Amino acid sequence: MSNLLNLVSFGALALAPIAAGAPSDYPTKQCVQLEVTVPVVATNHHFGQPPIDSNITAINWTVNTTTWNYKLPSNPPIVPIDRTFKVHAQLCVPSTKNAKSNILQIATQGRGFDKRYFDIRVQPETYSYLDAAIKRGYPVLTYDRIGLGESEKPDPYDVVQLPAEVEILAGLTKLAKAGKLISSSKVLSNSSPAVKDFVPSKIVQVGHSYGSFIIAPMIVKYGSLADGALLTGFFPNPRLGTVDVSHYDHAYVHDIDPVRWAAYGPGYFILANTLVLQKLFLHKPGFEPALLTYMSEILQPEAVGEYPSGDSLPLPDLHATEFTGPVQISAGAFDFANCKGDCRGQYNATFVENLFPKASNITGYLQPDAGHAMHFSTTAPIGYKAQLDYLNDHGL
Ligand SMILES: *[C@@H]1O[C@H](CO)[C@@H](O)[C@H](O)[C@H]1NC(C)=O
Ligand SMILES: *[C@@H]1O[C@H](CO)[C@@H](O)[C@H](O)[C@H]1NC(C)=O
Ligand SMILES: *[C@@H]1O[C@H](CO)[C@@H](O)[C@H](O)[C@H]1NC(C)=O
Ligand SMILES: *[C@@H]1O[C@H](CO)[C@@H](O)[C@H](O)[C@H]1NC(C)=O
Ligand SMILES: *[C@@H]1O[C@H](CO)[C@@H](O)[C@H](O)[C@H]1NC(C)=O
Repeated sequence: MSNLLNLVSFGALALAPIAAGAPSDYPTKQCVQLEVTVPVVATNHHFGQPPIDSNITAINWTVNTTTWNYKLPSNPPIVPIDRTFKVHAQLCVPSTKNAKSNILQIATQGRGFDKRYFDIRVQPETYSYLDAAIKRGYPVLTYDRIGLGESEKPDPYDVVQLPAEVEILAGLTKLAKAGKLISSSKVLSNSSPAVKDFVPSKIVQVGHSYGSFIIAPMIVKYGSLADGALLTGFFPNPRLGTVDVSHYDHAYVHDIDPVRWAAYGPGYFILANTLVLQKLFLHKPGFEPALLTYMSEILQPEAVGEYPSGDSLPLPDLHATEFTGPVQISAGAFDFANCKGDCRGQYNATFVENLFPKASNITGYLQPDAGHAMHFSTTAPIGYKAQLDYLNDHGL
C-alpha cells in the first residue's frame, strides 16, 4: 500500500524550521569534475522523424507528431549502439565523515537541463539540492546526459535515445559502485584531493522528470544498481501524457543563437522563451522571477530522438522485480507537464506498485506550491527535506 501525504499538513510543514544547528555544524562540499568514458551496448531505433533544421521544421515536427491520428512506427528498424560515450560528471563529497558518507546519490536531470538543475546557484542555500544533500552528509554524483551540457552531442535522431541513456546511467553506476569512477576518468579539475574513489555501500538513484523515466527502466533491468530511489517530477496520474509537445514551443537551436549553440546541429531544438518555461515548469505563487531568468540562462537543447524513444517505453508492462529498496514518487502539487496543472488527489498508486512490486516502501509526495521544476520553486527546501528525510527514515 502506498501513502500520499495529506496536503492539509503542508501549511504546518511550511512554517517549521528546515533544519536545526548552526551552519558551521554542516559538512561543506568538495568536488571534482570528470570526463567519464562510459562503454554502452544498447538497442535504439530509427523512428524516421521529420527533420528539424529550422524554426519552421521544428514546428512542422511538432504538429506532425501531435496530430490526433499520428502513430509511432510500430516496428521501427533497430539501431544497435556499441560504443563509448564521453560524459561530463561531477562528484562531490562532504568534508566530514558521517553516517551517510558511503551512501552515494546519483542524480539524472530531465529534458532542457544539464546537471546544474541539481545545483541552482541563485540563493543556493534555498535552491541547491546538491548543497542540501551534502549538508545531510551524502556524496552526490551529477552528470550531463548525452546531447547537452559538457557531454558529447551525438546524432540526435538515432543515438540520443532513452535506451542508450539507460545504459549510460547503468555504466556510470557500475563504475561508481566498483570505486572506479575517478580512476577511469579524465580528471578535469585539480580541485580537492580529498575527493577520492571510494566503494559506496549503497546507491540512491535521484531523478527529475525524463531523468526519472531513465531511472525506472534502469532499475527494471539492473535491480542491484539502486538501493533506493527518489523519482521527482514523475507522478503517474490519469492526465499523464495529455500535455504533449503541442504545449511546448521548440525552436531550432541555430535559429535561436547560432553562436551559443554552435556545438549542436540539425535534430537539436530548445524551448523558445521564458513564456513556455513558466508554463511547463513553474507555478504562481511559488517562484521568484529571478529563478525564471536563471532557468533561461542555464537552459539546454533537447535531442528529438528522446521523444519517440521515451514515448515508446511501455512503463505499465515493466516490473522491477529485483529492486527491493524504498522509492519516493513526487511532483509539484501544481505540475502542469505531469498532471495538467493539479496533481492533488490524482496519484495512481497501482501504477507505481506494478512498476516496483518488491519495493520495501513506496510513498507519493507532493511539494506544495510547486510546478514541474520543483527545484526552482520557493518550496524547494520543503521538498528537499521531504526527500532526504524519506531516505533517512528508510535506512538510507
Ligand atoms: C512508507 O513510508 C512512509 C514514511 O516514509 C510511511 O508513512 C508509510 O506508512 C510507509 N508505507 C507502508 C505501506 O508501510
Ligand atoms: C506525419 O509524418 C508522417 C511521416 O512523414 C506522414 O506519414 C504523415 O502523413 C504526417 N502527418 C501529417 C498529418 O502530416
Ligand atoms: C514536414 O513534415 C512532414 C511530415 O508531416 C514531412 O513529410 C516533411 O518533409 C516536413 N517538411 C519539412 C520541410 O521538413
Ligand atoms: C526562431 O524562433 C525563436 C523563438 O520565437 C525566435 O527568437 C527566433 O528569432 C526565430 N529565428 C528565426 C530565424 O526565425
Ligand atoms: C492506474 O494504473 C493502472 C496500471 O497501469 C491502470 O491500469 C489504471 O487504469 C490507472 N488508473 C487510472 C485512474 O488512470
